[in-house]
Amino acid sequence: MKILFVGDVVGSPGREMVKEYLPKLKLKYRPQLTIVNGENAAAGRGITQKIYREFLDAGANAITLGNHTWDNKEIFDFIDDAKYMIRPANFPDGTPGKGLIFLKIEGLEIAIINLQGRTFMNAIDDPFKKAEELVKKAKSKTNIIFVDFHAETTSEKQAMGWYLDGKISALVGTHTHVQTADCRILPNGTAYMTDVGMTGPYDAILGMEKDAVIKKFLTSLPVRFEVPKSGRKILSACIIDIHNKTGKATSIQNILINDDHPFISE
Ligand SMILES: [Fe+2]
Repeated sequence: MKILFVGDVVGSPGREMVKEYLPKLKLKYRPQLTIVNGENAAAGRGITQKIYREFLDAGANAITLGNHTWDNKEIFDFIDDAKYMIRPANFPDGTPGKGLIFLKIEGLEIAIINLQGRTFMNAIDDPFKKAEELVKKAKSKTNIIFVDFHAETTSEKQAMGWYLDGKISALVGTHTHVQTADCRILPNGTAYMTDVGMTGPYDAILGMEKDAVIKKFLTSLPVRFEVPKSGRKILSACIIDIHNKTGKATSIQNILINDDHPFISE
């Protein structure tokens, strides 16, 4: 089982990169499953139904989310019907949506889980306890388990990676928007990467207009962060290979497309 995962898609520049490169990446790597993190897809905050459908039409099989899940209020109108959308599982009980979904692709059952960290983020339920509970549930159906852990600190992401090593196929981090150079297979067979990085504006700060962010640092005054409408773009992703029966990962490789790392088709 080959899984292509695209990191945090930010605003329309990110969506344009997905439309342009997802078909090319699928041709090059031939993944059976493609997952996109779409929590910043609507102007940097949240996701709309139209964007959710656009991702599916572009070739994604599932969309994960994060701390911006509720920022675009339209989500409440469609999240319960969005079969391929996964929001952090450790949001409090009673929250709309699902934190774990199962997909059947080419006769193989796959579990996809989304979790969110707590360090330097809003207070939510314990992601470690929730992970244990959901991995147990997933294991009853399949050995192929993928986790998108949306978290701020490298330490919390590493801790979750080691905690779940051998219990899941892959854990990739999202949220910090800068791709880390630490792709590896942990000793018990879990593919791990601290952060996949973002997809969207390249000459920006974490996908936002850079002048506004600099002004904020210089003055501490309230500033409105916007996604730049034009300019160069980046796509950050990774490709993971998993043994169909054991669910253990055999490889993980980062993918980075921008003017400094141009896409090579073969
Ligand atoms: Fe985030």
